[in-house]
Amino acid sequence: MAASSMYRLGIISALQEEQQGLVEAMQGAATHIHGRRDYTTGTLWGIDAVCVLSRIGKVAAAMTATLLVEKFGVSHLVFTGVAGSGGPGVRVGDIVVADYLVQHDMDASPLFPPCEVPLTGMVYFAADTDLSTRLAQAVAYFVALQLPSAIDDGEKKLFGLHDVKVHRGLVASGDQFIHSAERIAGLAHAHPGLLAVEMEGAAVAQVCFELNVPFAVMRTISDNANEKAATDFLHFVQAVAAQYAFYSIKRLCEQLAAPVNDD
Ligand code: ADE
Repeated sequence: MAASSMYRLGIISALQEEQQGLVEAMQGAATHIHGRRDYTTGTLWGIDAVCVLSRIGKVAAAMTATLLVEKFGVSHLVFTGVAGSGGPGVRVGDIVVADYLVQHDMDASPLFPPCEVPLTGMVYFAADTDLSTRLAQAVAYFVALQLPSAIDDGEKKLFGLHDVKVHRGLVASGDQFIHSAERIAGLAHAHPGLLAVEMEGAAVAQVCFELNVPFAVMRTISDNANEKAATDFLHFVQAVAAQYAFYSIKRLCEQLAAPVNDD
């Protein structure tokens, strides 16, 4: 199938396990190495795409997002990965699609308010509404129709995956793996409405804001950001989050590639 010309979709994940399957699914895949990262170009379900692993943290993510835009010419960007829960009602196995993102460890006070990115006047960076809505719809489609067969029953039991929910709202990013009940409570208090914590999304948000590129972030909740956060982390990413990302991105691409019905 020919790629749809409207989109050149950049897809970033921090870890290899979070993007498993996507590169193998690419048609006409070609890999280009820049700045110690592999950028794989090709077609995903009718959409021209570029997949790349950022590695972990805000600088890594910012560099990767910038290259995706400036060197690989992506028109839209999606980040897919895992996160710790940031609020009550957000459970392991749920998915958060970001509406807003904040760098929780940015603090140039007293020169600027805490968490404000200096000289932008901004604390909260908005994700692109249209792309985020399409992504959330793709995730909801996966949860309703594909999750039951895509994840092994043993893994569902192990991680307590039932009544999986898709949330939309605030995601906080910082160069810290949060693994303390006290710390996550402090972040939730500082950022009312917080749903999830991770280590890259808000950096991508700042880059996309500055380069004027629409972006969306989806995060599967892997842990509760408390003292048990690192237990089973990689197992969860491989067995659960990789499937969530694969099927959600597949559905997103299929929907983006579908001809628009103007009736
Ligand atoms: N990604 C997944 N879990 C996380 C956590 N607890 N803190 C930061 N990033 C994460």
